[in-house]
Amino acid sequence: MSRPRVVIFCGNLRRPSRSRVLAEALGAEVGRRAPVDLRVYDILDAGPGFGSALARADLPLPAARIIDEIESADALIVGTPVYKGAYTGLFKHLIDFVDPGRLTDKPVALTATGGGLRHALMVEYALRPLFGFFAALIVPTAVYASEADFKESGDEGGHIVTDAGIRARLDCAAHELTRLISKRAGVAEAVIQPARTAQ
Ligand SMILES: Cc1cc2nc3c(=O)[nH]c(=O)nc-3n(C[C@H](O)[C@H](O)[C@H](O)COP(=O)(O)O)c2cc1C
Repeated sequence: MSRPRVVIFCGNLRRPSRSRVLAEALGAEVGRRAPVDLRVYDILDAGPGFGSALARADLPLPAARIIDEIESADALIVGTPVYKGAYTGLFKHLIDFVDPGRLTDKPVALTATGGGLRHALMVEYALRPLFGFFAALIVPTAVYASEADFKESGDEGGHIVTDAGIRARLDCAAHELTRLISKRAGVAEAVIQPARTAQ
């Protein structure tokens, strides 16, 4: 059986990005717990012209591919920087193209970074309702980190998460997401098995 595909989609508009680092750190924790196929995308991967598209048919190919990946993933890890108290505009613009029925029951973990703690609950008041709209299976632990929770990695201006509290929340969220992924894979196996033996 192929490995469950976990797609990380992050709303950062620049690289290096703390938000992408946080979402990838959660992906790595999931990868430590179970064999998964991890794929990472951000707004820069969506390509130029994506911001002006109004219909899915108008999307540049790279953006259309990301949406296909999100819709067909076995699980999602989403991340975004906080801009003016919420997710970035282009993060929402991409999610606006996702078919409303394609995230139903999909395991989703939420992450975000901000300048400080003022908007730490943004994961709860902005990201959680957005994925609730899609009837996704959102894990209970969302992970928010502020700039002070990172230190420079010395790797082309990159960052690593250093705060022990954030690492503990990543651990929790990864545990919850992995459990949902395994459960879903188990159910799929149980449903698929009789059909295979009948052939
Ligand atoms: C246009 C803009 C708006 C921002 N608004 C907020 C905000 O409302 N609250 C906050 O905590 N941080 C805010 N920030 C800070 C970023 O969320 C923070 O630096 C974040 O970690 C950047 O993530 P990135 O490295 O992935 O780009 C803002 C930054 C920018 C550029």
